[in-house]
Amino acid sequence: MTEFVLTGFMGSGKTTIGRLMAEMLHCPHIDLDEAIVAKAGKSISRIFAEEGEPYFRDLETQLLAAAVARAGILSTGGGTPVRMENNLLLRRIKTPVIFLETSPEMILERLKNDRNRPLVQALDPDKLLQLYRERESCYRQSADFRISTDRKTPIEIVREIMERAHISAEDGMH
Ligand code: S3P
Repeated sequence: MTEFVLTGFMGSGKTTIGRLMAEMLHCPHIDLDEAIVAKAGKSISRIFAEEGEPYFRDLETQLLAAAVARAGILSTGGGTPVRMENNLLLRRIKTPVIFLETSPEMILERLKNDRNRPLVQALDPDKLLQLYRERESCYRQSADFRISTDRKTPIEIVREIMERAHISAEDGMH
């Protein structure tokens, strides 16, 4: 079973925080996007362009189920909790699911020069904000708790997560 699952919109820091947590807890970091890229043998942009988003979403669901059964910290993709099947799985597992909540302003700032995320390329800022609002309830429903990330450093965010989960870095899994 994973130790923690991180969710949140694109640009909320899931990968950065996941890597840091894994380092501090001495456990593996699993990045769902990376697992998808490895399985498909091509980048996310190419999967979207060549196979289409539904293919990507099917792979995401399949690999999420495999990932939650592995040990470590799991960083999901921004759209993972949107599909009901995934959302229900995240609610069902005992692992704490943490929603990294980042303000829309901060998200737009972080994503404005992004060239790798197909949805950022396809949507203008207004549409991205609309997507953010549409997805908010999915993140909230599937999370055990949420941590606001605005104006915090990665290390502060990790410490806050550990405090909320009542663990310390010394409890790390070896
Ligand atoms: C997506 C988010 C991305 C990646 C894909 C789709 C989304 O992950 O899974 O581009 O639907 O929000 P990140 O949140 O890690 O960028």
